[in-house]
Amino acid sequence: MSGTPVPRPRPRVAVSRTGLPGPAVRRLAARYDVTAWEGTAPPTSAELGTLVRGCEGLLVLGSDRVDAALLDAAGPGLRVVALASMGYDGVDVEAAAARGVVVTHTPEVLADTTADVSMALILMARRRLGASMDALRRGEWGAFRMDAFLGLDVQGATLGLIGYGQIAKALARRAAGFGMRVQHHHPRRKEDDELSRWVTFDELLRTSDVVSVHTPLTPETAGMIGTPELALMKPTATLVNTGRGGIVDEDALLTALRGGKLHSAGLDVMVDEPRTDPSDPLFAEPHLVVLPHVGSATEATRAAMVELAARNIEAVLDGEEAPTPLPGTRGRPAQGATQPTTNRTTPTASQSG
Ligand code: DGY
Repeated sequence: MSGTPVPRPRPRVAVSRTGLPGPAVRRLAARYDVTAWEGTAPPTSAELGTLVRGCEGLLVLGSDRVDAALLDAAGPGLRVVALASMGYDGVDVEAAAARGVVVTHTPEVLADTTADVSMALILMARRRLGASMDALRRGEWGAFRMDAFLGLDVQGATLGLIGYGQIAKALARRAAGFGMRVQHHHPRRKEDDELSRWVTFDELLRTSDVVSVHTPLTPETAGMIGTPELALMKPTATLVNTGRGGIVDEDALLTALRGGKLHSAGLDVMVDEPRTDPSDPLFAEPHLVVLPHVGSATEATRAAMVELAARNIEAVLDGEEAPTPLPGTRGRPAQGATQPTTNRTTPTASQSG
């Protein structure tokens, strides 16, 4: 006896914000049952867990936490978590692998835009542009003086890149145009190239006029620029971080700046973002330029990030390889990964797919 075929329900996809730039979420909504978080504030972990329950795909931002509890809240059908960000320090990669969930991110599309902000911070900090703008706004623009707001030149200065991925290389290209010499440190890739020469970490700190951080936040890199490292740097040097807060020890940085042990610094990223206290000591330090994590913030780049995240979801839900899985992970849901159960124990490395 043949009955009317029952249409398969459309896969469900959760999106952790509403109003993301570009057409990609609308395209997802044409294919899947999409639920976007409508709140004005970002969802709490519990709210995100409720949103993702029963979904096969989840699109999140870099500031969202994707941990074992969230993956379990989603249930066993979850196949892909697509970050609209390059950084993935908010994701428990092992827990995702143990559950066979593909995690993807958005490299490349934001490299040039973020490197622009790194270069801007170098110029703002080294040329004291932030401090001079602040003085102007306080009505302190006096008669022209030859010694007012003197900064340090970037031409002829040596830029030291910590990490040598896409953003660092994009910054190296910009720095060359500004007449800077470029050197880099990467723990494993020890080659020179046409843009930059490889140096040891200590040599980079000792010999660079500008040190710029471009490494992911991991247990190994957390606090990697602290008091001893700042002490190795030249007192005329500038430190810039567009990577992640937590790589630079903020208290040590403030102490170095206040004590004249470092010329200046520029931060686009901080620990515990967002920082909303106007009396935050970081905001009051005249030799420090701070920005509210705007490295990739152009309309085109943010839309490209959402587009790439959406393409990753489409690929996995179509049974194809995700275009940009996290480094060292698989682009397809792993076969035989530990399937979620109601009595899951904490996943271990040996469970990783
Ligand atoms: C990134 O892509 O990692 C940016 O910091 C935005 O999250």
